[in-house]
Amino acid sequence: MQYFFECGHFVSLSIAELSAVLYSYGISKNCVKKISDNILLFESKSVSKDVLDRIFNRLGGFIRYGEIIDDLDSFLEPYFTQNRVVFGISAIGDIGIGARDIQKLSNDIKRNFRKADVSSRFLLPKRDELNAAQIINNKILENGFELCIFDTSLGRLYAKTLAIQDLNAFVKRDLSKPSVDFDMGVLPQKLARIMCNLTGLKEGIIWDPFCGSGTVLMEAAVLGFDVLGSDIDIGALQITKENLEWLAYEGLINQTMYNVFHLDVSNVEKKKLKELKRSNIRAVVCEPFMGPAQRRVLTQTKAESLLTKVKELYTNFFEMLEGIAREGFMVVIVLPSYKTDKGWATFSISDIIGKRWDIINKEYCSEDLKWSRINSIITRNIFILSKR
Ligand SMILES: C[S@@+](CC[C@H](N)C(=O)[O-])C[C@H]1O[C@@H](n2cnc3c(N)ncnc32)[C@H](O)[C@@H]1O
Repeated sequence: MQYFFECGHFVSLSIAELSAVLYSYGISKNCVKKISDNILLFESKSVSKDVLDRIFNRLGGFIRYGEIIDDLDSFLEPYFTQNRVVFGISAIGDIGIGARDIQKLSNDIKRNFRKADVSSRFLLPKRDELNAAQIINNKILENGFELCIFDTSLGRLYAKTLAIQDLNAFVKRDLSKPSVDFDMGVLPQKLARIMCNLTGLKEGIIWDPFCGSGTVLMEAAVLGFDVLGSDIDIGALQITKENLEWLAYEGLINQTMYNVFHLDVSNVEKKKLKELKRSNIRAVVCEPFMGPAQRRVLTQTKAESLLTKVKELYTNFFEMLEGIAREGFMVVIVLPSYKTDKGWATFSISDIIGKRWDIINKEYCSEDLKWSRINSIITRNIFILSKR
């Protein structure tokens, strides 16, 4: 069986995320290949659909996944036993299929259903693709199907959607969480999810030592990790606690262990280091302080002065980690690049970690991992590190 995965906006991050999650399930990344700008093909004889469903539900960087259809006629047959079918058609990517072609194909499908005495309802996509709300609200996947069409390096492919990203759940965690402090800079909920997945783990303890309002910890907890959060700012600790308690109250996490405590990464007592070392933390996932929010392109001098301070914090942090991290300990961390009048300015992760850590980004994706919106002043560069 062949399956497709439709990547979100940041394709390299999506590729890396899927590879890392496959790794956590013991599945080779060689099962995946990129067949168009935003479509990955997954092929394996041994991986069941149940496992793929579980994998898809963990992901933050994907829109939908489904199975490739060999033949359109036999694809429709199972639906002939239903009284009623709701279906939609999505042309994914820029493939030169317009509303008129979609309408024509839908009429052909409807004719087939009519012949089989099945009543059918076709949902026209708002653009070329049905959006998540249309699919979820109309229960398309339960009562019928979404047929996807895309052009790929293998030619035109047709596929049936098996699952769509639960966007409402991300939005709910983002907008309905009780506490937030926008001044401290909040990680996008989906990026937090992707970063947890980039650890290549699916259980154990994740620690965010710069937890802020707890975005990383919320996503980690939803994924089933136990979580530790710490921050230099007592107010942030309170916010994180309230957000994690809210997740539990809403029934969005099960048996998760969480603990939030005060810690300045630049000044940690030996006793605390020992305690942290004993606590079996498997990975750190974090966005450290990246300097104050910026609204305008910076001068190079300003960027350099900001970066010097940020770099010092990162250096202290990795010094501190030396006392805690054993071989195989994972770190997924954001490094900032600032837009300046003379181009982008950043610093090198290798300068900070030396030879004590391996950068393993390239094991999951050959491209750099970046999260950056058009016109943004700060780009987030994501690094995956493994302790030697
Ligand atoms: C960018 S925010 C983290 C935001 C968080 N990821 C979120 O989405 O809510 C950086 C955090 O680092 C904390 N911080 C700054 N310096 C620190 C230090 N020396 N030790 C620990 N935390 C520190 C700040 O208080 C702030 O909460």
